[in-house]
Amino acid sequence: MGTGLLNIGQRRRGPAEGVSADSAFPRRDGVLRCGEVSLEALVQEYGTPLYVYNGDRILERFHAVRDAFAPLDLVIAYSVKANPNLAVLRLLGGAGAGADIVSGGELYRVRHAGIDPERVVFAGVGKTRDEMRYALEQGIMAFHVESAQELVALGEVARDAGVTAPVAVRVNPDVRSPTHEFTRTGHASAKFGVSPDEAVDLYRAIVEHTALSAVGVNVHIGSQIREPRPFLAALDVVLEVADRVLRDSGTDLRYVDLGGGFGIADGEAGALDIRALAAGVAARLEGRSLTLILEPGRFLVGDAGALLTRVLYLKRSGGKTFVITDAGMTELIRPSHYGGVHAISLVHDSDKGSVERVDIVGPVCEQGDFLARDWRLPVPSPGALICVRQAGAYGFTMASNYNSRPRPAEVLVHGGRPTLARRREEYGDLIRGERDD
Ligand code: LLP
Repeated sequence: MGTGLLNIGQRRRGPAEGVSADSAFPRRDGVLRCGEVSLEALVQEYGTPLYVYNGDRILERFHAVRDAFAPLDLVIAYSVKANPNLAVLRLLGGAGAGADIVSGGELYRVRHAGIDPERVVFAGVGKTRDEMRYALEQGIMAFHVESAQELVALGEVARDAGVTAPVAVRVNPDVRSPTHEFTRTGHASAKFGVSPDEAVDLYRAIVEHTALSAVGVNVHIGSQIREPRPFLAALDVVLEVADRVLRDSGTDLRYVDLGGGFGIADGEAGALDIRALAAGVAARLEGRSLTLILEPGRFLVGDAGALLTRVLYLKRSGGKTFVITDAGMTELIRPSHYGGVHAISLVHDSDKGSVERVDIVGPVCEQGDFLARDWRLPVPSPGALICVRQAGAYGFTMASNYNSRPRPAEVLVHGGRPTLARRREEYGDLIRGERDD
């Protein structure tokens, strides 16, 4: 499966339908739906731009991961950063998910949503002492430590608090993941993790420290990776670290955390074969009494979400056709920031005009503000509704108020019933917290 990153100029683009056979947003009677609910009806109720999540699809994906890895002792720690909306957290927490967090704020959300702290792992290169204290108070499963200095700080915070901090070292396996350079984290020059040799040293320090205890080993090599091979290469590296730790410090680590990063089908290419990955992982874990932790984010929520936006104007200039929509980089930054290719289609079949290559651009005053470039689309009329797929992960959560644009509403459709999961922001929200005299 090509990753497309090496041949950006030759990407397959559009049409959107048929990209993902198990689409969460099927077309019926000429109109796209979220399950049975018409997207047109949702827009009439909640306006545009609008994020819509298919809760049934989220649970289907959660169960798909669980089933693929079924024979193993597994914790699915949902990567909260992908979509931290409370409704999503409650849905996944209710299904038995734990959480992968990277900030005190994410921990606050996770606890608010009732997720068991004993299933929460805390990664990130820059945890503050305040965040460490908060996580210790909450009794999380483990800190995924990413440097020697962070380990020292955690030891001090834990000792001062009179508790023992459970630790896994995040290993940098020096595996190059086939994905965009901004979402690649497993190569030696990335800021994440420590080398296998340094990891062994850190485990020695943990074992000798009275306020630290070594519980597992962690790796995360990046995001939107469509091949099993780099994950398995990374797993080999961390299992070797676990063996060395046992020999070196006499400590038997309880879990291996393989991170997230499982790729989904989008407007560019297909998904990771999760069953092939699971088979490779199971073969490597055979005969070991290790719990497996996985940290999927996008794989659970990515294709379960869509961004709905309305066409404001059509503009032809400089040999191009611009479809100007009421959503742009402020609502979905992935196309402009990561070269993300989302499958985009019209909500209504009846809007179909002649198919052209168009640039779908937002209202933000930046030339880099686009949702798609050279995307094949039936040229829409002003007022038409556009559906941007695979927007359930890293969509709303990366939205901003740039250009003083209120952020959109989010709706969760679950069991055929839509619920407003977050209301649309108003102008008043934009100045909340600012001094105003
Ligand atoms: N675990 C750790 C430690 C991570 O840093 C991440 C993502 C995940 C798990 C989940 O990765 P996922 O399964 O969602 O691929 N904003 C970018 C993606 C950044 C990913 C950051 N870390 C994008 O829109 O493509």
